[in-house]
Amino acid sequence: MTAKILDGKRLAKRVEREVADRVAAFRKATGIQPTLAAILAGDSPASAVYVRHKQAACERVGIASRLYQPDGRSSLEILQLIDQLNADPAVHGILVQLPLPDAVAKEQVLDAVHPLKDVDGFHPENVGLLAQGRPRYVPCTPAGIVRLLAEYGLEVAGQHVVVVGRSDIVGKPMALLLSQRDGPWGPQYANATVTLCHTRTRNLPDVTRSADILVVAAGQPGAITRDMLKPGAVVVDVGIHRVSGRLIGDVDYDGASLLAGYISPVPGGVGPMTVAMLLENTLRAAELLNRR
Ligand code: GUN
Repeated sequence: MTAKILDGKRLAKRVEREVADRVAAFRKATGIQPTLAAILAGDSPASAVYVRHKQAACERVGIASRLYQPDGRSSLEILQLIDQLNADPAVHGILVQLPLPDAVAKEQVLDAVHPLKDVDGFHPENVGLLAQGRPRYVPCTPAGIVRLLAEYGLEVAGQHVVVVGRSDIVGKPMALLLSQRDGPWGPQYANATVTLCHTRTRNLPDVTRSADILVVAAGQPGAITRDMLKPGAVVVDVGIHRVSGRLIGDVDYDGASLLAGYISPVPGGVGPMTVAMLLENTLRAAELLNRR
């Protein structure tokens, strides 16, 4: 069997067209241009690339974007910047690109973002709302994954979803989102039986082989090989690594695509969907902040 491809690049383009239409309508009705402030601290080349992609996407759909590059050697400048952006009525979304440099107090910084401007969904208030099944902003990568599954009619209700990796950005919110009774994409895209795996999971291959849907956010190239899959499984690869000048994911794509039913490629799978969901969240922020 050769797996069908979960084409995030194509779907993201369609989502962008939809967001662009909604942004235009919002601007016409309110005179307000949705605006995202991106904070890039430190000097990670990969983070700089991701932020550039996010800003370019904003531009394509009519969302204004501003880039701030504070000193990453302490938290102070970043916290002052966030205070200023929280108070600025022209800014609707605030994105702090992660990872932050070691010298910066990540939790203090993420806690400082106004919860209504927290388009990444990383503030504890928004994490709490998601945990209670009433999300305000769903973190962009998990949101993009569910949207991608829904596009292909891959319902998750009753399915065994195995998530590999327990990060606050992907693994944890993914497990929360899929195990709820209902969700932003309807009950068929919730109600999964979720197993969350991590570095202390025993017999990982046994667990992954029981997955109908496998979401891999392990942060390790080649972490998942063909022998770790159930035949016909849906495989979603969140990893992205540059190895010998090539971009690869956490899944051994060539092997896995011989056995899986569906697989997301790297690049062109989850990455573009993350960016598309950021656009949706930023528009939503502008709407929520301007409700009358
Ligand atoms: N770093 C990796 N993924 C993300 C994301 O979705 N948002 C932010 N802010 N940083 C990230």
